[in-house]
Parts: sequence; C-alpha cells; structure tokens
Amino acid sequence: MSKSALEQSVNYIREHMSLAPEIGLILGSGLGDFADGLPDRVAISTADIPNYPVSTVEGHKGKLVFAILNEKPILAFQGRTHFYESRNLETVLYPIRVANALGIKTLAVTNAAGGINRTLNAGDLMILTDHINLTLEPWSPQRPASDKAVGGTVYSMNLIRKAEEAASANGISVKKGVYVGLKGPTYETAAEVEMLARIGADAVGMSTVFEASLASSMGMEVLGISCITNLATGIGTSKLSHAEVTEVGNRVKKVFAKLVSATIDRI
Ligand code: HPA
Repeated sequence: MSKSALEQSVNYIREHMSLAPEIGLILGSGLGDFADGLPDRVAISTADIPNYPVSTVEGHKGKLVFAILNEKPILAFQGRTHFYESRNLETVLYPIRVANALGIKTLAVTNAAGGINRTLNAGDLMILTDHINLTLEPWSPQRPASDKAVGGTVYSMNLIRKAEEAASANGISVKKGVYVGLKGPTYETAAEVEMLARIGADAVGMSTVFEASLASSMGMEVLGISCITNLATGIGTSKLSHAEVTEVGNRVKKVFAKLVSATIDRI
C-alpha cells in the first residue's frame, strides 16, 4: 500500500475526528460489541474511509470507534479482516498502519481462539505471553524496509502484568499462554491440533500474529488477549462452527469488556 493511500485514509479520519487516540484496540470475532458500549463514542464507518479494506466475515462490523475510556483517548477497530479473506497481508496490516499514523502507542489485540492446552475451557480469557506464526506466509514484498525488525519480543511484559493485576482486582480469572496463528479458513484436524500442542501452543486462531508483530516492530507496546471460544478439534467433542465461536464470544463479552477497561485504567 503506497504511502499516499495511507495518508488519504488518515487525512479523512482526522477531518472527521479531532480526538488523538493513545490506545488502540483490535476487536476479534464476537468481541466487536465492546465498542458499542463505549461512552460518548464517535464511529467512522471503514467503508467511508478512502482505501480502507472491507471486512466480509459474518459478525464483523467495519467501524473505527473513538471514545474516552477511563480518561484515556482510545480507538477501537471493529471488524478486523483476516488473511484468508483477501490473501493480502497489507490488507490485514492496514489498521496497524493507521493506528501508527494516528500516534497510537499502546495496542491491545484480541481474538477468538480454540483451546489446545487442556487446562483451558470455553469462555476462558488467555493473555498472550508469546505467539507462533505458523501461517507460513512470507512478509509482503511491498512492506517498507522499516518493518524489517519484526520478531523478538512482541508482547509487552509490562502490559501482561497490568492485565493480570486488572484481572485479579476485579475477580476475573485469566490464563496465560502461547497463541499459534494459522492461515485458516478451515479449522484444524485433530492431528494438526496434536502437532500444535507438541510445538508449544496453548491456543489456536487465524489472526493476530501479523498485526501484533508489525505493531511491536513499529514501537508500540502490545497486549494480546484470546477469548477461548471452543476447545480445538480433538480436545473437545463438539463440532466447531462460526456460530459457536460467536455464541461464546457473546457470553463472555461483559467479562472481556471489564478486563480490557480495567487494564486500560492501569496504562
Ligand atoms: N481454531 C482456529 N481458529 C479458531 C478456533 C479454532 O478452534 N476457534 C476460534 N478461532
């Protein structure tokens, strides 16, 4: 994506919103409603933003929602696009580039994920300590050389600690673990899940790894939170469906909102 395309997007956003957000929130499957509950929010539809990629997955609303949460200006990205929709990495990374251009310094990336570690249950929230990028997707050649430093430590220890403190202060139980990102869009086979368990993954999903890596390489402090919407294939007994993922997301969204808001309070 050329610089001028990004500039056009950012100029449009700035013309419609004077608030300068400090904290960004990427809302995953089933967690998009969080933004609808934000006080005094101002939403911009991504369809109105020049050059902003469109989301097609059921349950994803494409909006940038600005609000002040616990006295901090935030921007929630509602309706992320997955790699399997466009097969274009720049499309997936676009919100991160927008966040960076708007001056966001802290980014919380959330997702729906399947539990692999047998201590995880559907409805659990898991703070990401690290991830494994198993998309086997090379970084896009259009990426500027400044993105090259991707890798190393992606998730901020400081934010992990703050999220844990926020959870315990509010009686929310959270787990911690390693997220593995696959390309999807099919769910994994039981044999694949067994492999993922052996390479050290606690939960599996189809997003986050690209966005979190880029944000971190751009100098943002990154927090990752998974909502365990189901047990991965072969771990649980039920057949996986997008409906189940959305249903569990709905069930835990209040707790999720509390955790995010209490964490932001500590930033
Ligand atoms: N696998 C991959 N992605 C997912 C899952 C899963 O079990 N649940 C939610 N997103």
